[in-house]
Amino acid sequence: PASARPGAGGELLVGGVGLAEAADRFGTPLYVLDEEEVRRRARAYRTALPQAQVLYAAKAFLCSAMADWVSEEGLGLDVCSAGELRLAAATGFPPQRILLHGNAKSPEELRLARRMRVGRIVIDGLAEIPRLAALAIADTPQQVLVRVLPDIAAGHHSAVRTGVAGQRFGFRIDGGDGAEAVDRVLAQPSLRLTGLHCHLGSQITEVEPYLAALDRLVGLLARIRDRHGAELPELDLGGGHGVRYRPGDRELDLADFAARTTRHLAARCAEHGLSVPRLIVEPGRAIAAPAAVALYRVLSVKHGTDGRTFAAVDGGMSDNPRPALYGSPYAVRLVGRTSEAPPAVIDVVGRHCEAGDVLVRAADLPADLRPGDLLAVPAAGAYQLSMASGYNLVGRPAVAAVSGGRARLLIRRETVGDFQAREVGR
Ligand code: LLP
Repeated sequence: PASARPGAGGELLVGGVGLAEAADRFGTPLYVLDEEEVRRRARAYRTALPQAQVLYAAKAFLCSAMADWVSEEGLGLDVCSAGELRLAAATGFPPQRILLHGNAKSPEELRLARRMRVGRIVIDGLAEIPRLAALAIADTPQQVLVRVLPDIAAGHHSAVRTGVAGQRFGFRIDGGDGAEAVDRVLAQPSLRLTGLHCHLGSQITEVEPYLAALDRLVGLLARIRDRHGAELPELDLGGGHGVRYRPGDRELDLADFAARTTRHLAARCAEHGLSVPRLIVEPGRAIAAPAAVALYRVLSVKHGTDGRTFAAVDGGMSDNPRPALYGSPYAVRLVGRTSEAPPAVIDVVGRHCEAGDVLVRAADLPADLRPGDLLAVPAAGAYQLSMASGYNLVGRPAVAAVSGGRARLLIRRETVGDFQAREVGR
């Protein structure tokens, strides 16, 4: 993570804990999550955007400890399933600070959200409106936002650009069903429309797309005011804030994002004679990714036919599907020993039976890399474990938390027994 430091003897420390020591103690593959780094990042959002509501996007990675940490730092939680909702509820997460998303919320999810008294629900389909209205009662109305599709292309891969035209997310912003959704929500006495929502995409490193989204959303706020006489108090810009995966990568500058979105919002609202709504942001990756490192043990080093060198490790696309899904780039380094060998170009590959299971293509690693070596992949905290699978019954890795020089296991390694435990017939 960003907090990694060399210790005495060249050992790499995270949260004051040696990575080699953690690997020996908990086994590999291992995800090491730096509690202080999560907290620091959560606090940085509150400091940069003191007037805004900051919701951690649980989809990046959620476990009970993570929910505790972001809650203690004053953040809310963006959830998008009954699973995330139940886990948050079990940790005692304040329900008022929870917002429920989903383009296909089940009746059960809506009921659960209502029963838990979650603070906000984002409407992303006309059918949801009467369904939710029937669950709520007029004297304790459910606060909702309407998700719109701003038609702005941003994000690291077409698979994550949810804000462009043609996507299934949100309502059309210019007339059409967006206006209709707003009309229908306002007509329900048991729903209170607090604002509009949009989410552009993920791993965005520029502020401009957010400013363009603000233009469209404020335009719609003005049309709603003209049509209904209602000024909505909230504007949710979603998440998508990009992080650095490799040295030299661009990341979204939080201070710049905060200053320019705040200024832009105020200016656009002034033009329309609107009072300035409160911003909501939903960062997931920017809080979780830089706070974890993935540790793998090299199992074999092989020289391929066309001069390539492969180092196969004990994890792969089952714990990190991002390279296979999106071609995502990563950095990797040798930890636990120092090497005087010259650098070599090595493909770090996984253990799964697919040619596409490459974790880091053309990595810069010492030429004497050998079985038993330990490799560390930084910025591993988001969309890896949360998208991990049970491919080849390998079992999902363990997760350890480090803080103040101590490590503790948060999630044990998944075993074949876990798979077998779900079998109820043969
Ligand atoms: N809000 C909404 C409505 C979202 O759909 C998302 C992410 C977020 C917030 C948080 O976005 P973040 O700040 O983490 O970028 N699996 C992909 C990323 C998918 C993001 C999905 N939605 C990846 O590994 O790149």
